[in-house]
Amino acid sequence: MEPIRVGLLGLGIVGGGTFKVLERNADEIARRAGRRIVVTKVGERDVARARARVGADVAVEADAFAVARDPEIDIVVELIGGVTVARQLVLEAIANGKHVVTANKALLANHGNEIFAAARERGVMVAFEAAVAGGIPIIKAIREGLTANRIEWVAGIINGTTNFILSEMRSRGLPFEEVLAEAQRLGYAEADPTFDIEGIDAAHKLTLLASMAFGIPVQFSRAYVEGITRLSSVDIRHAERLGYRIKLLAITKKRPEGVELRVHPTLVPAGRLIANVEGAMNAVLVNGDAVGPTLYYGQGAGEEPTASAVVADLVDVTRLDTADPGHRVPHLAFQPEALADLPILDI
Ligand code: HSE
Repeated sequence: MEPIRVGLLGLGIVGGGTFKVLERNADEIARRAGRRIVVTKVGERDVARARARVGADVAVEADAFAVARDPEIDIVVELIGGVTVARQLVLEAIANGKHVVTANKALLANHGNEIFAAARERGVMVAFEAAVAGGIPIIKAIREGLTANRIEWVAGIINGTTNFILSEMRSRGLPFEEVLAEAQRLGYAEADPTFDIEGIDAAHKLTLLASMAFGIPVQFSRAYVEGITRLSSVDIRHAERLGYRIKLLAITKKRPEGVELRVHPTLVPAGRLIANVEGAMNAVLVNGDAVGPTLYYGQGAGEEPTASAVVADLVDVTRLDTADPGHRVPHLAFQPEALADLPILDI
């Protein structure tokens, strides 16, 4: 069977990691997907740097839109980040009949309803495992593993940068700014780290989890969001003395009258599993009516953990497209007919 052809937009940390994992594990991935998954084009402004990285067999275009429209591409992987241009690129790719894989939580939290509707209309898939909790397959867990359940709540640590900052401030007594600079150096932080430290990145991801869990539209603007910038080392020390750890938790809960959607620093008893999630690690608890509480733990950021989720989506999309090329599974998000008309509650 012919390989499925991928256009990779953005060859930064996650784009580079995706390319690397696809090459390194090409044989295993081909066996699992049923055919080879090959990056045939890269859209990257820094053409020379990209060429040096991907070698002569892969075409590099400075114009990402040319890749999004290219008739020789089956799946577009959007890893450029940001919202405005990314939205145009994704909509362009969908309009041209391509499936889309993205790690862009800001994009989907702000424009997910429009993007999912466009994908349904055009009969293509939009997959976004890498947008939430990096390498942890939490979207797949909610969509597939827990599909028998009524999900009651989801709560977790879904921003690695802030968890890293809180952990280092507590365990090594380091000042906030120093640890933030270290998180940036390690590639955990967003291009604009305000998104991390003000809780916005966690709220983007939570919005997507709530949509998946409860079948509601994406409603980021309704989330209650409070970051960690008002916390000091003194708060962290006092919490510790009282037997607690401070964690930036993202919580969504279904109530009869609506859905809670909130991100804020929380005192967690030091003995709890989630209180002991340290560094840039993420952990997500999902409670279903049949299964009870379940816990997912892993690296929530970084080059290869995030690439692991991007490649998992590429395999899913390839399998589904290959099995059913005429009648494509609409997308890999929530099912439109399940959209619940539940309001997001004021916190
Ligand atoms: N800035 C994000 C984090 C990257 O720190 O979790 C992964 O989404």
